[in-house]
Amino acid sequence: MQGKNGEKEDEQVVSEIMARCFFPSVITTTSWEGFHFAGHEIRITEATDCYGAVVWPSALVLCHFLETNSKEYNLADKNVIEIGAGTGLVSIVASLLGARVIATDLPNLLGNLQYNISRNTKMKCRHRPQVKELSWGMALEKNFPKSSNHFDYILATDVVYAHPFLDELLTTFDHLCQDTTIILWVMKFRLDKENKFVDRFQELFNLEEMSNFPSLNIKLYKAMKKNCKRA
Ligand SMILES: C[S@@+](CC[C@H](N)C(=O)[O-])C[C@H]1O[C@@H](n2cnc3c(N)ncnc32)[C@H](O)[C@@H]1O
Repeated sequence: MQGKNGEKEDEQVVSEIMARCFFPSVITTTSWEGFHFAGHEIRITEATDCYGAVVWPSALVLCHFLETNSKEYNLADKNVIEIGAGTGLVSIVASLLGARVIATDLPNLLGNLQYNISRNTKMKCRHRPQVKELSWGMALEKNFPKSSNHFDYILATDVVYAHPFLDELLTTFDHLCQDTTIILWVMKFRLDKENKFVDRFQELFNLEEMSNFPSLNIKLYKAMKKNCKRA
């Protein structure tokens, strides 16, 4: 993170975050990557055929944040939705920290997502996490009606990159976010065109930069709807 000690702090926190990752010491029939968060060993099965099938560094940044800031951002019994959950690491960590979690992604990702979530949360969590399809911008009111879905937190990591659904992504944040909802969003900065998403996001939400990791080109933001009660 870039605080008063600048680069040194970035280096130190990034190496602490990356140290949470480990690999199997012996070759196993199913490949997995391991992580230590929330006092648990988490095993994630990845695939190599699409973006959501590997754990991206932004996910580690948010897991580390949730664990190390669990007093201020206490997830116990909170309603949490993750969009673009991919392999599910962030949703797993949020569940282990006591949240009621809905992990969402595109339909073809849900099998592996469900597998990772079940394997790592069974008998370990207060609330059994759910896995649901959420294709950005699609059938939002039908599948997530505003009247019956109130989320305390929306979690999103590395959801902005060269894909054609940035408008739909913004619509999705807007639909899911109510007056008291907190968005914790980790953004990996790549190309200028996608980076402009941050400006568009700020038209709808008050955005606060919580951490900056220049060595990873990653920032962690907290956001709330503009003109909301707790802004
Ligand atoms: C770069 S991956 C990040 C995955 C995970 N959040 C992480 O940080 O490891 C982007 C995720 O967004 C999902 N995604 C992309 N386009 C989407 C869309 N139109 N609707 C819903 N999810 C989408 C992908 O399936 C993928 O899981």
